[in-house]
Amino acid sequence: MSWRESCSKYTAIGKGSYGMVYELFNNGVSTGQVVKEFNDGEFRDKRRFLREIDILLKLHFHPNIINIIEYSKSDDSPWFRMPKAPYTLHHYVKNSVESLTEEEAIYLIEQILEALEHAHQHDILHRDLAPSNILLFPDVISGQVTLKVADFSLGRDFTSESAPLTKTIDMGLGQDGFVAPEQHEQTSQTTVQSDIYSVGALLAFMLTKKDPRLYKPTGRIRSIIDKCMDTELTRRPKDIKALKEMVIYYKKITSNKVRRNIEDIISEYNRYKLLNFDYMNDLSKHLLNYEEHSQGGWTYNLYFKPLINIRYDLITYWCQKADMYSVHKFVQNYCKQLLRINKQTGWGFKAMEKLGGFIMGVFNNVSYIDTKLLIFRTIIECRCGFPELSGHLKELMSKEYDVDNLTHYSMLILEKKETLLEYRDDYENSIRHYSFIEALEIL
Ligand SMILES: Nc1ncnc2c1ncn2[C@@H]1O[C@H](COP(=O)(O)OP(=O)(O)OP(=O)(O)O)[C@@H](O)[C@H]1O
Ligand SMILES: [Mg+2]
Repeated sequence: MSWRESCSKYTAIGKGSYGMVYELFNNGVSTGQVVKEFNDGEFRDKRRFLREIDILLKLHFHPNIINIIEYSKSDDSPWFRMPKAPYTLHHYVKNSVESLTEEEAIYLIEQILEALEHAHQHDILHRDLAPSNILLFPDVISGQVTLKVADFSLGRDFTSESAPLTKTIDMGLGQDGFVAPEQHEQTSQTTVQSDIYSVGALLAFMLTKKDPRLYKPTGRIRSIIDKCMDTELTRRPKDIKALKEMVIYYKKITSNKVRRNIEDIISEYNRYKLLNFDYMNDLSKHLLNYEEHSQGGWTYNLYFKPLINIRYDLITYWCQKADMYSVHKFVQNYCKQLLRINKQTGWGFKAMEKLGGFIMGVFNNVSYIDTKLLIFRTIIECRCGFPELSGHLKELMSKEYDVDNLTHYSMLILEKKETLLEYRDDYENSIRHYSFIEALEIL
């Protein structure tokens, strides 16, 4: 039976580039269903319509993907029947007085991510994630909104016979503002990251009600959007799972839970790779509030061990963003601990390399000259005879300061020896300050 015979009336509610969507009525009452029917015409490609049916069948039964109730691929105009959504995301956002709250937006985005994860696992890219292709089904009683991703007409199936259709797809590039830039250039270049771009754009749209290319919300959520919409593909989350983790992390930091200690902060960072300023502030606070411990072992475990696990880009970021005074104060603290542990233990211990490496990371990224000098001085004063440092010192001497001044300054630090030769010939020094001497020798 043709779908037309199954109802007493139907009215067009959506006109897409590849099909018409009709709402079906019986005796003047909506059946709660719609039919999308292939609409013949110039540039319209029946194969693509048929493929949308195949894709929807392949992804069937996912709660966040629109489900097919009935279909016909054999009629002159193929069609499929699906539940009618009260709103598209476009209507929902545009008709609400305010833009959505972050909580509402995240609630919806999480459902999109569920749908996409399922699709990607089945080798399907959506490639046209835009507000008019996202359907919302609010539950009148609970108030909860179920989201279902629809319109897979630009969908791409990595497997099977989809490749020959790519050319045709180029005519439908997806919707401005939501489609990834690389997809504009060449549709066949789309990857998982192209869908991820659109998720970022959708999130921005929900929070601003405006074109996501031009308007982005402020606040913590911004970092997710920026990551997703990065023009550089490789900087976007690598897959939906990674993006989901970012969302989980976002939820965690916006809930009232406070990170307990620096290990928490660092392990969260290593896990989610999210840099934002709130996070860095937490880190600063912890770095500055470290208690001092008189025992070397304690200092190492409580102070250094978590710190040296900090990734280099995080150090860089912190040095650049935190105020000069905080960084300097932190460096003072760190250097004090470093000297203490060095003197107490007399270690040429392995970890020293990492401790020095960490502070050199700071050194390379701070601009305040007093902070640099403080680090320099500490390194010389420590018994750090490891070769990596001599490289840093050489660089420092050749680049950062006037050589004469630096040598002079270093001499003052190095226990008042008059000349470099005298200093170098001192056996005790030559062991303690091996790297420094090495560095001096190139001068
Ligand atoms: N299940 C549904 N319930 C309610 N409205 C729907 C439903 N499916 C589609 N629509 C409406 O019809 C419009 C067009 O549908 P759809 O996006 O699937 O078609 P399309 O031909 O692929 O459109 P385009 O390619 O232009 O995006 C949607 O934007 C939406 O407004
Ligand atoms: Mg559409």
